[in-house]
Amino acid sequence: MPQFAWTQAPETHLHVTKVVQDCNWLQGLEGGIDTSHAPIMHRLLSETSTRGGFKPSNPFVRGKAPRLVVDITDYGYQYAGIRPLGEAEMHIRTYHFVMPFHQIRPSRSESGVKLIAGHAWVPIDDETTMVYNWAYSPTEALTETDRLERGLGNGPVHVDPATFRSRANRANNYLLDRTVQRNESYTGIDGINVQDRAIQESMGRVVDRSKEHLGPADKAIIQARKLLRQAVKTVEAGGSPDGTGPSYYTLHAHEEVLPNGTDWRQITPEMREGMILQTV
Ligand SMILES: [Fe+2]
Repeated sequence: MPQFAWTQAPETHLHVTKVVQDCNWLQGLEGGIDTSHAPIMHRLLSETSTRGGFKPSNPFVRGKAPRLVVDITDYGYQYAGIRPLGEAEMHIRTYHFVMPFHQIRPSRSESGVKLIAGHAWVPIDDETTMVYNWAYSPTEALTETDRLERGLGNGPVHVDPATFRSRANRANNYLLDRTVQRNESYTGIDGINVQDRAIQESMGRVVDRSKEHLGPADKAIIQARKLLRQAVKTVEAGGSPDGTGPSYYTLHAHEEVLPNGTDWRQITPEMREGMILQTV
């Protein structure tokens, strides 16, 4: 079995859930490896809101539009969103895309403990996906409140634990509340990953990507498509695609504010010598 770092965490420190998503797996994955939308779509409008999302004071929200750096590896890639923050600082958030459908990202528990988290978008068929959501703390046990996942919207409050279907869904307009949208959150939809599912499902189960125009903010998605196409060719030729070796087992993800001019790679010590094949 693949030995992702989260699979090695003790159960006390680890939480895993799953939820059905009504769209193609790659449509979900591409949302998960896009940093550009996150501090806009998932932002809160009020410091006092207790809903899931990023508060106005969060440096992720205060930062300006990100510059993306993608480090290609033999498992997929690491990528960083680098956002100018005021005059003297920058906000760095790193992610990993592990072929073919895993995302690893930095996160925080309901009580503010630093976590490493991620999703796996596993296809059920071309138009339906089972999303596995995991998070663990390297240092602390998770609480019962953490396990409700109220902020993300993946726990028993938001997802039926018998059918793994989201209670907020396309049929009920994702329970979008216009009063909440006016006063508390950008979308008016409760739960960060409920917001993601709303966007990823409501565009249609499989969107025709030949009609879209990608730009610099889509660099990570462009690279994911290139790597997946290459993997198809590799397998067709009888080879082993990227992401089948052990190189990703120890990966973490990070979020920091650093002074301008600092080498941001210092926050990713798990990227050992030789792991990065090419930077784009
Ligand atoms: Fe998102």
